[in-house]
Amino acid sequence: MRICFIKSLGAVALTLAAAATVTFALEPPQNIIVMPPKDGGYTLVKAIESRHSDRTFVDSDFSSTQVAEILWCASGENRENGGLTVPTALGKKEVFVYAVTKQGIYKFLPNEKKALFVNKGDFRKDAGMQDFVGKAAVNLVYVIDKNLSGGKTDADKVRMGAFSAGAMSQNVALFAASKGYGNVVRGSFDKVKLGKALKLSPSEEILMTQSVGPIAPAK
Ligand SMILES: Cc1cc2nc3c(=O)[nH]c(=O)nc-3n(C[C@H](O)[C@H](O)[C@H](O)COP(=O)(O)O)c2cc1C
Repeated sequence: MRICFIKSLGAVALTLAAAATVTFALEPPQNIIVMPPKDGGYTLVKAIESRHSDRTFVDSDFSSTQVAEILWCASGENRENGGLTVPTALGKKEVFVYAVTKQGIYKFLPNEKKALFVNKGDFRKDAGMQDFVGKAAVNLVYVIDKNLSGGKTDADKVRMGAFSAGAMSQNVALFAASKGYGNVVRGSFDKVKLGKALKLSPSEEILMTQSVGPIAPAK
């Protein structure tokens, strides 16, 4: 009797669950309609909904905590085995994030949970070709160390590193959206000038840059 009651409770639960989850079978050649998930992390979905590029940065400064939070999102350690917030080819962790701030430049070493000071001074203008770059609170620079890459050719190394850098910049873009910071990824920069400011070694190459910071209120 008791078993029978539990069984029927289970059946009711299953029926309710089926009613709550409406799924559609894939029917090729129909296109798949892609919509934001309805559950499982509304905040993340909201951030994805809000992601966009901004260029109206106000000249400003971030606290070390604000810079640290951004760096962690980009490529921080998120597991006890040393894994990062982003994938890297063969787990080589060959892409590093540099932070160019009003005060100076730092190189993030995720597994050391540290951003090492690299250069003193305001080099923000050297991080890009557009006027807003010199105002953004922080300009991130995604740099591959080809000596660490598992790729065989130079092109392979850059291709795989760029994939990780893309994942990093998107983590930052979503975090920026959730915090109300502006952000824009940038391919326009002077490799030689910026490389000098970052004090890069010959095995390091800049892949991408990204400006992040407070923006002017919308009119
Ligand atoms: C690889 C790449 C390079 C980019 N380079 C620049 C750049 O140098 N300067 C800039 O202002 N925006 C740059 N952008 C941002 C694009 O202009 C922007 O993503 C595009 O206009 C779409 O706008 P949205 O990001 O608001 O959707 C770049 C984007 C990508 C993906």
